[in-house]
Amino acid sequence: MTDRVYIFDTTLRDGEQSPGASMNAQEKLRLAVQLEKLGVDTLEAGFPAASEGDFDAVSQIARRLTRTEVAGLCRANKNDIDRAWGAVQHARKPKIHTFIATSDIHLEYKLKMTRDEVLRATTDAVRYAASLTDRVEFSAEDGSRSDRDFLCKIFGAAIEAGATVLNLPDTVGYAIPSEFAEMVRYVMAHTPNMHKAILSVHCHNDLGLATANTLAAISAGARQAEVTINGIGERAGNTSLEEVVMALRTRQNYMPMTTGIQTEHIYPTSRLVSMITGIIVQPNKAIVGANAFAHEAGIHQDGVLKNPMTYEIMKPETVGVNTNKLVLGKHSGRHALRSHLKEMGYELSDEELKTVFTRFKEVADKKKHVMDEDLEMIVTEGILRTTD
Ligand code: KIV
Ligand code: ZN
Repeated sequence: MTDRVYIFDTTLRDGEQSPGASMNAQEKLRLAVQLEKLGVDTLEAGFPAASEGDFDAVSQIARRLTRTEVAGLCRANKNDIDRAWGAVQHARKPKIHTFIATSDIHLEYKLKMTRDEVLRATTDAVRYAASLTDRVEFSAEDGSRSDRDFLCKIFGAAIEAGATVLNLPDTVGYAIPSEFAEMVRYVMAHTPNMHKAILSVHCHNDLGLATANTLAAISAGARQAEVTINGIGERAGNTSLEEVVMALRTRQNYMPMTTGIQTEHIYPTSRLVSMITGIIVQPNKAIVGANAFAHEAGIHQDGVLKNPMTYEIMKPETVGVNTNKLVLGKHSGRHALRSHLKEMGYELSDEELKTVFTRFKEVADKKKHVMDEDLEMIVTEGILRTTD
């Protein structure tokens, strides 16, 4: 028997909060289409009350996607909820994701509200959101540093008001796996009517523990993971989608859970995020880094040649990494270029290919071999020029 873990992708919202990662509507739409292809269950498209541009991007995504839930983030007040609903309402599966902080430090210094006031704001916000759609998620910001019993009270009130997903964020990346798992078990056991909702977790990576905390929470009963591609996000980032999904897939024997992710689209999606945001993936990044499947030591190379499983716990093809490198040069044609780029994770439109092909020929005239690094540069420049 396997359990389903829902993947809530927030690359376009929390991921966009990475310094320097802001995206325009066209770039967001392009990524949203790729994320749907990847198979995420929910896509948080943005924070519509934050700006006109984000409202517009979220609305375009909502109208375009057909299979994926499209969520808009909003604070727990009517104005924000109206903006979020205005942006997502045309989606096939629109979702409102409303949040308020629950830790004493946030209440005292940021919100200047009492616990009772936060409880009332939660009930009012969720009830109002639930009057607009059945798909309502409530997040307790800074949940991991909140008083556990207050958290359970807030979650119970959110369920009663109509939330179907309750999200427990480790907003500042403070939790430790064993502690976070224990908190998840406590919340699941003490929140009234918890059986009516799914518990979600949303971890930040300030101590490098976001993936570990997410997996610990899943083993303790959480069934939704909030993640971003390449782990981009506020400060040190969010839990990375590829790590959680591949950990679950690779360790089925220990954690028999499935996701709806089509893993062969992971690497192409990672490339696209990196290209659009300009945030480079560190070479040793798990799953999607340039060295993730490279073997340098002679003993390792020998082992891999005899049987890849000696040093590889997953096949590169499983995540869409192609190890069969073909060298391109000035005699290579458009078709070879397109298929090579596809193997690298770039699926270009005809117009983009035209721009990229012209530039490729210019580079090939000057260099004997055009390497993947050259192509990355050409594609990035070419696509950005076509989307401008
Ligand atoms: O980190 C956080 O607490 C958030 C919430 C808005 C879910 O991003
Ligand atoms: Zn966050």
